[in-house]
Amino acid sequence: MARVFSGIQPSGDLHLGNLLGALVNWVNHQEEHEAVYCIVDLHALTLPKDPEELRSSTLELAQLLMAVGLDPDKCTLFVQSHVPEHSQLAWLMECTVSYGELSRMTAFKDKSDRSEFISAGLFTYPALQAADILLYDTDLVPVGDDQRQHIEITRDIAERFNHRFGETFVVPEHVIPPAGARIMDLQHPERKMSKSQHSVNGTINVLENPDSVRKKIKRAVTDSDGEIRFDFESKAGVSNLLSILGAAKGDSPEEVAKSFERYGDLKSAAADAVVDLLLPIQERYADLQSDPAETRRLLQAGAEKAQEVASRTLTRAQQNCGLLQA
Ligand code: TYM
Repeated sequence: MARVFSGIQPSGDLHLGNLLGALVNWVNHQEEHEAVYCIVDLHALTLPKDPEELRSSTLELAQLLMAVGLDPDKCTLFVQSHVPEHSQLAWLMECTVSYGELSRMTAFKDKSDRSEFISAGLFTYPALQAADILLYDTDLVPVGDDQRQHIEITRDIAERFNHRFGETFVVPEHVIPPAGARIMDLQHPERKMSKSQHSVNGTINVLENPDSVRKKIKRAVTDSDGEIRFDFESKAGVSNLLSILGAAKGDSPEEVAKSFERYGDLKSAAADAVVDLLLPIQERYADLQSDPAETRRLLQAGAEKAQEVASRTLTRAQQNCGLLQA
């Protein structure tokens, strides 16, 4: 059985891009594979965070992920900082990746352009991400398109380590969904929908109420030529609506395009599909919120399960690279 691993940051609200680009796939993978999913709180610290907010967003994200459909009986769900092997392997990864490689990461360039304080952790972020993935002998990493470069560098690190010290890590592949891999901002369809861009009208949160979802989709930026076709280069706004509707319905955006002639109809159908997708998630979330102690118990059990695999891989990596066992 293939092993699947992926992670998500507990920063900001969960949005439609996270859901369609990654989480829908996570839920599917837990049915067929051995799936391990991680709330990456250490990654969230790379940008300044209020401690109370980080703590509560971590717990809320766990509840949201379960509301979306992750089932702790079918997958391993845990918090990154609960399994210290992530930080320990990250150091070995930092010593395997070069300064030049880290300097070329577009996520670092984007985020450092937008922050006043640029932490060293923001720069070495991909080394920790590589540790996350490699600790679990991961075959497949389901992510949105924006994580492509992070998975590439993980592969390079794994191959370099194996080459230097002998077979240690499985070299993983990314899995990017055919529709939904790049959900764009509804007001600025040339940039991705994101937790950190503060574009209130361009972002749909998973917990957003139906009226607000409909309004935002109705006001989404399109263009003036009136033609419905999937073409991100010249028709970013319309293509984004086609991607959203396609991903929500499990169809390709090209196929969806054939069913519509007017922008208004496309928008109504996209709004209905998103509302239908979000409502059951919101209901389950409300139920789960009533028992935070149970969520914490499930996360602890998840961390114990994850650690069994992670500690074996860490020991193997430490031995292979020459660290004297205690
Ligand atoms: P994060 O927390 O930014 O996003 C979580 C997942 O959501 C996807 N995503 C999107 N997909 C489509 N359209 C969008 N607009 C959109 N925005 C976000 C992301 O691609 C991601 O799959 N570095 C990672 C977290 C991480 C990780 C890992 C991922 C840490 N360790 C190991 C995989 C494996 C991140 O910041 O994701």
